[in-house]
Amino acid sequence: MTKRALITGIAGFAGSHLARELIGQGWIVSGIERHGAVLNNLTDLIYRVRVDECDILSSKDVGHVIRKQRPDTIFHLAGTSFVPDAQNAPQMAFEINVKGSLNMLEEARENAPDAGVILISSAEVYGDADRSRMPLTEDNVFRPLNIYALTKVCAEETASYYHRVKGVKCVVLRPFNHIGPGQRPSFVTSAFALQIARIEAGKQDPVLKVGNLQASRDFTDVRDMVRAYRLAAEYCEPADPYNICSGRAYKIKDILDKLLALSDVEIEIVQDPERMRDSEVPIFQGDHTRFTEATGWEPEFSIDETLKTILDYWRGQVR
Ligand code: GDD
Repeated sequence: MTKRALITGIAGFAGSHLARELIGQGWIVSGIERHGAVLNNLTDLIYRVRVDECDILSSKDVGHVIRKQRPDTIFHLAGTSFVPDAQNAPQMAFEINVKGSLNMLEEARENAPDAGVILISSAEVYGDADRSRMPLTEDNVFRPLNIYALTKVCAEETASYYHRVKGVKCVVLRPFNHIGPGQRPSFVTSAFALQIARIEAGKQDPVLKVGNLQASRDFTDVRDMVRAYRLAAEYCEPADPYNICSGRAYKIKDILDKLLALSDVEIEIVQDPERMRDSEVPIFQGDHTRFTEATGWEPEFSIDETLKTILDYWRGQVR
């Protein structure tokens, strides 16, 4: 039978890629977005998805949309996703990431008790993890190092409560960094690729601003990531959380070098104090064994393919 999905944050970076993935697999897809959200990421899907304007902080609105769309699965992606945004506006981050998740879980329980809920948490919950335990398995304890991570810990605990006590079929996923076309240039790979594309086009002096190049992150192509979200809905049992990651960590400096190698222009690299963070997790490297055993998922895109796609995307945007 055709499956029905409701995606919160459908016009966002991962939300729009997820809509594309699900439609490609024959799902009926609807989603919600806040008032005034830019829908550019959905341009190619506009006649194939139903988007309702809905404030995730209004339980009445959320309940109304769930009753209307009757989803089999709710993919809860809406939230603050950029770490410095949460650091600069903690109350707002808690409202959206924690109260928004609570509203969605409560309204799912009330209006779609048989629906599965996929709650998108983050690798950031591991925070200041013991570095001798890399790669990180799901058994590591929560050690959040920033407000964003703290909101994700609270959202996970809320989901766990709704599953254990209220019977909501909620699967918690912990994505590590995911990248690809359509991501905001606040995030690192888009930040670098956009600057390179602007320099190539003669729209910026040949100076590329960077933050901390010594941190290491585990990057997955967003297309692999959203395929994992779909497989989670199809195969995962609600109980334990799952890491979604490549299993490999790259220094940000190496990512920058790979992007620069894709361009012919001479570029000077300058550290921008505004891009440095107060507290920074030095390395994230995940272990996705549990998820692979449950679903058979493996990442398919190499980091080089993904970075080229991102740079080409920004070249197109700049033109
Ligand atoms: N954004 C940005 N811009 N980051 C930079 C820059 C820059 O110019 N230069 C260096 N960095 C470093 C950051 O300090 C960080 O160590 C790393 O690049 C990645 O930064 P982001 O792309 O902003 O991602 P993040 O690691 O903070 O968080 C992402 O991954 C989480 C999962 O691990 C986000 O996608 C989160 O939403 C996600 O939960």
